[in-house]
Amino acid sequence: MDPLFENIIRPALFTQDPETMHELALKAMTIVGAVPPLRAAMEYFNLIKTPKPIKIFGLEFPNRVGLAAGFDKDAYAWRGAAAMGFGHVEIGTVSMLKQTGNPRPRIFRYPSSEAIVNGCGFPNDGAEQIAARLSKVLGKHRDITKKCPLGINIGKSKITPLEEAAADYLFSFSALADFADFFTINVSSPNTPELRRLQGRDFLPNLLAAISKANEDRAKKLGVARIPIILKIAPDLSFEEIDAILSILEELNLDGICATNTTVSRPAGHPEYEKTGGLSGKPLFEKSLEIVRYISKATDGKLPIIGVGGITDVRRAGEMMNAGASLVQIYSGMIYRGPFFARSIANSLIWRDSEWV
Ligand SMILES: Cc1cc2nc3c(=O)[nH]c(=O)nc-3n(C[C@H](O)[C@H](O)[C@H](O)COP(=O)(O)O)c2cc1C
Repeated sequence: MDPLFENIIRPALFTQDPETMHELALKAMTIVGAVPPLRAAMEYFNLIKTPKPIKIFGLEFPNRVGLAAGFDKDAYAWRGAAAMGFGHVEIGTVSMLKQTGNPRPRIFRYPSSEAIVNGCGFPNDGAEQIAARLSKVLGKHRDITKKCPLGINIGKSKITPLEEAAADYLFSFSALADFADFFTINVSSPNTPELRRLQGRDFLPNLLAAISKANEDRAKKLGVARIPIILKIAPDLSFEEIDAILSILEELNLDGICATNTTVSRPAGHPEYEKTGGLSGKPLFEKSLEIVRYISKATDGKLPIIGVGGITDVRRAGEMMNAGASLVQIYSGMIYRGPFFARSIANSLIWRDSEWV
């Protein structure tokens, strides 16, 4: 717990509109990331490194805690996030087309239960503009992400019909491939109409096969390694649906799964979550945990899992790891616990990777 944040800063921040405060946080993190001495000083104090780097998806991670997608949608703040202790950052969701998302207000806090409902709908600058932004930084300093791998989360543009979704994802894949340490394929956000149907048998095999092929072709053409591809799923799937997804991932030899996105369901006894959108934070935890545990058992622990959903304290981060996650990600937890929450989780998990255990 960070008493200064939770007793003084958070109450002041929470008097303001959530998205306005989010934009302020993004600006602060962008500045931290863009000023080298500031970035280095922050990194020195915050970045917890395991004794040996953690190898997953063929990448090296300094610690097991990542920033979940949706926080840095337009790739401004990821260097700042890395300096605040995150061991990887997932930017996006990025879509082929630039889009404004749903009308504001679209982010709602529920402090008494440490929950958030968001109905954002992928507001983002579009793949080309975001690629140009990343190129400015990574074009010259590709090695920055060696310390903190950069994941790029891609999703479908709102106006693209489901039948043309693969082309939309492929456009973003190609535009952003030079900058991604890994890609997360988002078929699970509840705020783009029909997006979650892409998780089903009618669409998922073709979509993932098309992305895999583009990845193979690029690797051959450039003589480079394939980029790890991870699928992000919803917490509202049945176990049968999850089984079907796992067999597709196995068939296509995909690299991992990110479980889970926000939920459209609402826990009983909480009439306050009446806003439309995806619920995240503490009330999501048990659901995400159950799914991570299920996937880990179903795959004999062989498929790397990024566990995300409701990690609002270090105990829950540990439980997510015990359930079979290889990495964890946080979003809502940082809103409630403050900017150095990643560091405290990384610190709490470090014993797992220490040689003296
Ligand atoms: C305001 C907000 C926006 C989000 N936007 C995205 C997004 O664009 N893409 C995505 O894959 N997940 C998005 N998420 C979901 C998170 O990445 C994460 O999966 C979910 O919030 C559960 O984690 P948490 O309980 O730690 O917040 C968003 C979450 C929030 C709260």
